[in-house]
Parts: sequence; C-alpha cells; structure tokens
Amino acid sequence: MTIIHISAECYPVAKVGGLADVVGALPKYLNNSNVSSQVIMPFYNNTFTQEHVFTTIYSNQISLGNTLVDFNVLTLKENPLDFDVFFIDVPDLLFKNYVYSSDDTERFLAFQIAILDWMLTWGKHPDIIHCHDHHTGLIPFMLQESYKYEAFRKIPNILTIHNAQYQGWFPHLKVGLIPPFDFNHVGLLDWGGSINPLAAAIKCAWHITTVSPSYMEELKLAANGLESLLSAESAKCSGILNGIDTDVWNPETDHYIIENYNIKTVNAGAEANKKYLCDTFNLDAEKPLFAFIGRLVDEKGSDLFPDVFQIALEKNNLNILLLGSGNSFVEEALKNLKNDYIGTYNAFIGYDEKLSHIMYAGADFLLMPSRVEPCGLNQMYALRYGTIPIVRSIGGLKDTVVDISKENGFGICHENVTVLEITNAINRGITLYKNQTEYKRIRNNIMEIDHSWHVSAKEYIKLYNSIN
Ligand code: ADP
Ligand code: GLC
Repeated sequence: MTIIHISAECYPVAKVGGLADVVGALPKYLNNSNVSSQVIMPFYNNTFTQEHVFTTIYSNQISLGNTLVDFNVLTLKENPLDFDVFFIDVPDLLFKNYVYSSDDTERFLAFQIAILDWMLTWGKHPDIIHCHDHHTGLIPFMLQESYKYEAFRKIPNILTIHNAQYQGWFPHLKVGLIPPFDFNHVGLLDWGGSINPLAAAIKCAWHITTVSPSYMEELKLAANGLESLLSAESAKCSGILNGIDTDVWNPETDHYIIENYNIKTVNAGAEANKKYLCDTFNLDAEKPLFAFIGRLVDEKGSDLFPDVFQIALEKNNLNILLLGSGNSFVEEALKNLKNDYIGTYNAFIGYDEKLSHIMYAGADFLLMPSRVEPCGLNQMYALRYGTIPIVRSIGGLKDTVVDISKENGFGICHENVTVLEITNAINRGITLYKNQTEYKRIRNNIMEIDHSWHVSAKEYIKLYNSIN
C-alpha cells in the first residue's frame, strides 16, 4: 500500500507547530510497518532548503484562474529523512522565508493544483491520499469534482483535522481560481457564505480524522462554526491520538540537551539541564521550575499568563520560564514582567528548537492551560523527559494526562481556563514538589508511558485498510 501525505509542514524541513512533528514522524513509522509512505510539501526558502541540495524532477505551469504560474517538483539529492519527500516549488508564491502569510489562499491553492497536475503525469496512482489541515482541504473536493482530475475519482482520501479553529476561508469571488467543475456542486465549497476548504474536505473526503478521540467529540459541540457539519458527517469521522517520535524525543540520545539521561539517571540528568536553564536565564535552581513552550495565542490560554505569573511569583517559591511567540500584547506584558521578578522569572520570546528540548528536560513542571487542544504534543514530550504536565482537561490533554488525585495519576489537571484555576494548579505542583519522594516516584513512572507512534500508526493502518 502506498500513502501520500500532503502537508504545509514537516519536521525537520519546515515547522511552525505540532503539524510538522506529526507529518515528520507518522510516515516513518508507517514505512517501518511496511506501509510505503511519502510526503508532498511546499518548497520554502528556509534553513533546511538552503543547507540541502535538490534535484528538479518535473517543471510545468498551472492555471490559477487566468494566470499561468510556474512550478517545479524537487527531491532531495541526498535524503537524510526516513521517507521520501517531494517538494512543490512555486517560486512566485511558496518560496518565502515563512510558512504562512496573508496570501495563503493563492499560495496553497497553487500548491494543491500543482500536486494534482503533476500526478496526472504519473503512471500509477497512490493507494491513499492523506491530507492534513485546511491548506490541503480542497484536494478531496478537486479529486471528486474537477473535470481535469476525473482519473482520480476512485482514489480514497483522508483529511486529518489538526486544528479546526483554522479553516482557510476565502470569498466566493475567488472561486475562479479553482480548476473547472460542475457549478451545480458549488455548495460543496460553501460554509456560512464563504468558500471554506476545511468544510469542503469534511463533505468530500472519504474519511475524516481528528488528532485525539476527545477532540472529535468536542468538535461536534464547538468547532468554530463547523459543529453541525461534523455531527452530520460523524459516521465517517474518527479520532486517532497522535504519537511522538521517540527517536527524536529521547532524553538518552537527544543531541540538543545538556546532559543525556534515562530513567536510572534522571535525577542527575534532569538536574544538569535545570542548572543550565537557571544559569542561562538567571533563575533559582533550589525552587521548582515551571515552564511553558508554545504559541502565545488565546487557544493556549496564554493571555492569562501575565496575571497568573504575577500572582504565582509574588510568593517567591517557584521559577517560571516561558518560550514562545504570538500575540504582541501578551509578548509585551510577558517581557515587562521580567523587571519585576529578576531571579525567578524569564521569557524567551521567539522560536528555538534546541531550547525547547532543554526545557522539556530541565523543567520540573510544564504548563498547558489550553482553551482548545486538539491533541498537544508538548505534554507527551514532557512525560518522556520526566517533567510533570499541568494541563486543562480538554481534547488530547484529557486523553493523555490523569490527575494525581486519581488512581495511578501522574499529572495535575484543571477544568476551566481561569486565573484562579491555573494558579491553584501551580500551587498543587509546588506542594507535590515539596514531597520529593512522591515527586520522583511520579517522575519515574511518567518516563515509562509509551506514547510512541507504534501504537497510533497501527490505528491509521487499520483505517487505510478499511477504506482502500
Ligand atoms: P501546536 O501545534 O498547537 O502549536 P503542539 O503541542 O501540537 O501544539 O506542538 C507544538 C510543537 O511546537 C512542539 O514540538 C513544541 O515543542 C514546538 N514549539 C512551540 N513553540 C515553540 C517555540 N517557541 N520554540 C520551539 N519550539 C516550539
Ligand atoms: C495542532 C493542534 C495540536 C496538535 C497538533 C498536531 O497544531 O493545535 O493540539 O497536537 O496540531 O496534531
């Protein structure tokens, strides 16, 4: 069986968030299970593409409405990854030093059309096309409806919703950018008065998955406007929990962290990483270290951090270190807080892959007070590195973290995203940390939890077999 994954992100080529981690890992685990998997993604102008050599295997033009746009298909001359990647190079639109921007309608339409045009030249079709998020959401529609791609009608296709908050809406005025189809079916593109690529995918794909079972259920109640559609289509929807790439995320071999460790050496190993963080960010290694890593957006609850941190830091019995970027008001408030709590608080506003690994290794607790969390990978990385997650019980967080008050519990959970509940959860962390015997017992337990893709890849294989 041959699976083609189509995605805007794929680690280590281009990463904004967890989508990259998933598309950078699932194909590898599928290949290891003899399910041949390849990735098609845009060719961006970034560190990865600058540092590698590529071969052009196909060149042509696509029609984007009345405009002819050049594109090339590239492959890596020497591929360091565990699966083949095809890069769609649209020099005028995609080859930028960012992944997403304000002209994404044209950028990702060009991406999707170029893929299907190029596929027309292939002798043999893939067994399944697996699309990821709204950037690839028009592919299921075009496979089903476009005159030009009639040859593809019978190719089973899946779309995985990593985050339904983002749907790729654009006005009907731009419908001419989509290759010709029977206009009687234009309703398939529409949701709430605009063209909605995610809604079109939910209507046209053969199967829809979300990245955790709880998120699937939650989406039927609240999905940024798509709840009734998801409820109506629920027979072809299922939730499969993401896994993590335990080759990349392994404290024993992780080349980013300061000292490697395993379950037997976690005391010294975690301490060495914590010491590095405390030395680098002027924090107090004697106090517990609470970390946050992620996008500073409302979904992650980060707008409450300035208030939460201020209340928590007043007592002077913990450290907080934050790594992230996003909302400029939140960034500003988090930067300003630095002057008030020198020695116990710091924030790195930006993106830093290496620092994130050291933080998973060196922090004592990881904060995730998300309003929405389709799966969340951070809590699974934290568990593997022996850092106790403090999470709001929602989506994938609900499916992966059990509160310490329950049998075999290992994390700290709260129900609502309020300053009070997050602060209380932090206080519970401080209390747990004071009992070092209990803290270390839990730390050893969480490092053994298996969230590797081995388990979830099997679920996808079952699904592929069922629709093929
Ligand atoms: P989301 O995809 O919603 O942002 P996930 O928990 O699925 O959330 O994945 C986030 C991924 O991005 C993780 O690999 C996390 O370590 C990484 N990440 C997020 N923000 C940063 C940052 N500022 N610097 C480095 N890595 C980050
Ligand atoms: C999205 C979600 C996140 C999930 C990731 C990978 O970015 O916000 O919860 O873990 O996709 O599926």
